[in-house]
Amino acid sequence: MKLDQRSAIVTGAAGGIGMAIARRLLNEGASVLLADLDRGRLDAASNQLQLDTRAEPKRIASAVCDVSREDQVAAAADAAIAAFGHWDIVVNNAGLMLFKPIEEQTAEDWQRILGVDLLGAFFFIKQAFLKMKGGGAVVNVSSVHAVETEPLVAPYAAAKTALLSLTRSAALEGKPKKVRVNAVLPGAVDTPMLWDNPNVRSGAEIINKADVGTPDDVAAAIAFLCSDDAAFVWGAGLRVDGGRLVRL
Ligand SMILES: NC(=O)c1ccc[n+]([C@@H]2O[C@H](COP(=O)([O-])OP(=O)(O)OC[C@H]3O[C@@H](n4cnc5c(N)ncnc54)[C@H](O)[C@@H]3O)[C@@H](O)[C@H]2O)c1
Repeated sequence: MKLDQRSAIVTGAAGGIGMAIARRLLNEGASVLLADLDRGRLDAASNQLQLDTRAEPKRIASAVCDVSREDQVAAAADAAIAAFGHWDIVVNNAGLMLFKPIEEQTAEDWQRILGVDLLGAFFFIKQAFLKMKGGGAVVNVSSVHAVETEPLVAPYAAAKTALLSLTRSAALEGKPKKVRVNAVLPGAVDTPMLWDNPNVRSGAEIINKADVGTPDDVAAAIAFLCSDDAAFVWGAGLRVDGGRLVRL
C-alpha cells in the first residue's frame, strides 16, 4: 500500500469528499485523524470508516477543530502526533460556500469564508512546517472556481484562487523541509454541497451529468499526491473535473 506507516490529518472529514479522502488514505495504509466541527458527526464518521476499512481502531482518531482558529489547528496537529507518534500528511479539505450578490455581502461574510477556505489551510501548513519532522505532504482542496466561476460566490472563488497561490508559496518554502505542497481543483462532485448550490437548483449553473464525479475520484487523486509516487510533484494544481474546464 502507498501510505503504510504514514499518519494523516484530513479536515472536513465528517462527511462528503473529506470522508472519502479519509477512507482512501486508510485503505492505503495510513493512520488518519479526522478533523471537523462537530463531535457527533465525527464519531459517526469514525464508526463508519472503521466498518468500511476494517482498519485497526488505533489507526483512526478524531478531533473537534474549527480550521479557522489557529489554536484549534495547533491542538489537532498535536493530537495526531500524540495518537500516532508522528505526523506526515495533511489534506486541507474543509470548505464553506456563501451565496449572495456582492452588494449584499459584508466584511464578516468575507472573513468567515476566507477564514475557513484560505486561513484554515495556512494554519495547517504552518503547523506542518513546524511539526512534520521527517518531511511530508500537504494537499490543498481548491476548486474549478479558482479558474472560472459564477455569480454569487465571490468570496469562495477568491479564497480558492488564493489557495493556489498559497500552494505555490508553500511549495517553495516547504522544499528545504521536504514537505511537498500541492493542490487539487475538483469540478462538480456528487455531494450535498453540489446539489444544495442555489445556482444549480435554480438552473443558473447547468451541470451535465457526465461532468459529475464522485468523492472517490477526488480521493484517488489526493492519495497519489500524498504518496511517494508524486515525489517530484511540487506546487502543482491538479484538475480533477472530468474535463469540464477544457471544453470551449
Ligand atoms: N462538492 C463539490 O462539487 C466540490 C467541488 C469543488 C471543490 N469542492 C471542495 O471540496 C471540499 C469538500 O467539499 P464537500 O463537497 O465535501 O462539502 P461538504 O459541505 O459536504 O463538507 C465540508 C466539510 O467541511 C466541514 N467544515 C466546514 N467548516 C469547517 C471549519 N471551520 N472547520 C472544520 N471543518 C469545517 C463541514 O462540517 C463538512 O464536514 C471543500 O473544500 C469544497 O470547497 C467541492
